[in-house]
Amino acid sequence: MTPILNFNFRNIRALIRVDFNVPLNDQLEITDDTRIRAALPTIQKVLKDGGAAIIMTHFGRPKSNLQSVKLGAEDKYSTRHLVSHLAKLLNKPVQFADDCGSEATYKKAKSLKAGEVLLLENTRFYQEETKGNEEFAQMLATLGDVYINDAFGSAHRAHSSTTQVAKYFATDKKMFGYLMEAELVNAEKVLHHAEKPFTAIVGGAKVSDKILILENLLTIANDIIIGGGMAYTFIKAQGGQIGKSLVEEDKIDLAKSLLVKAKEKGVQIHLPIDSVVADNFSNDATIKTTLSDTIEDGWMGLDIGPKAIEEFSQVIMQSKTILWNGPMGVFEMTNFSKGTESIAKKVAEVTSQGAYSLIGGGDSVAAINQFQLDDQVSFISTGGGAMLEYFEGKKLPGIEAIKTDSDDIPHSSM
Ligand code: 3PG
Ligand code: MG
Repeated sequence: MTPILNFNFRNIRALIRVDFNVPLNDQLEITDDTRIRAALPTIQKVLKDGGAAIIMTHFGRPKSNLQSVKLGAEDKYSTRHLVSHLAKLLNKPVQFADDCGSEATYKKAKSLKAGEVLLLENTRFYQEETKGNEEFAQMLATLGDVYINDAFGSAHRAHSSTTQVAKYFATDKKMFGYLMEAELVNAEKVLHHAEKPFTAIVGGAKVSDKILILENLLTIANDIIIGGGMAYTFIKAQGGQIGKSLVEEDKIDLAKSLLVKAKEKGVQIHLPIDSVVADNFSNDATIKTTLSDTIEDGWMGLDIGPKAIEEFSQVIMQSKTILWNGPMGVFEMTNFSKGTESIAKKVAEVTSQGAYSLIGGGDSVAAINQFQLDDQVSFISTGGGAMLEYFEGKKLPGIEAIKTDSDDIPHSSM
């Protein structure tokens, strides 16, 4: 595998898989273009060298195929809605192909000149895509001279455009883009080269989503802070009364065993000692603060309390490496945002003092952005599910398809 930096794209048509799966509002306007901006350096490298870019992405989870889309079904999933924004960011025209491989599209791709950009229609308008169909992958491969995978957010999907397509390019004609490289360098730094003490902050609603990442973190972290709805399953596992807080009854035994394992491994697990509780799931609910293990019937924990903030802050301030995935409470509601905001501020503060911080997962990234601290942490991952699976220790198909040997994962020299 050639590092993209060393590749000269002069007169080369690069087929670039990006993850432009961005949110749109009702007017079909992009409400967060982070993922698009994150892929620009790769596209610009190709164009600046004198190459052309054929860009492909999935967009949402459409059920329709291309024919019904052309008749008007599920138009909201058309990548056509991304063309003008991409053109604005690249400061040049972007051509659009309303499919991924008709004769017309093939001709369009082949006649691209140096510096030109073509965006393909949503790859998921072909049912073959998510099945990882080989013929579809092979058809996509005919469009470019080289293949670049810059779609970290989709790297956990073994789909035609993320994985199978790579087979149809020689080793020296497929590579990671800059975003993929940066994601891997930063993830590897935390997974294998973390400066200690290493604190993982894990939150969000469900324990079931975080079991595997917790298992893996038990082997590498010194401290694990657990907040959000998932904390109450752990508190109940320890015999606490949690009122009507979120709980996954079928995960209580698992929570118990994770707590035992942590003890065996000398990993400190920090659960919120107190909580902001409410009588219903609403910003207008009656609220009070109480210890997390004596929440009365009829009340539910929706944020970590002041004592928990204090304890978690101390742990964070003593850390040299921080990984954060998942909010501490229902931060979208102002009455339950203080825990997540305080933790975000502490992560930013310790980063300014030289610690390294990686934030990932849709909700924690949204929180960091909401509190305008995105430029005060070390790295923000564009991966949701992909980031989680990478930190679970899994091999991601989109990455494996490009790597030629284990040394191909970029290492951190930071
Ligand atoms: C995401 O946003 O999680 C990625 O773009 C992958 O999308 P998916 O979960 O629909 O496969
Ligand atoms: Mg997803």
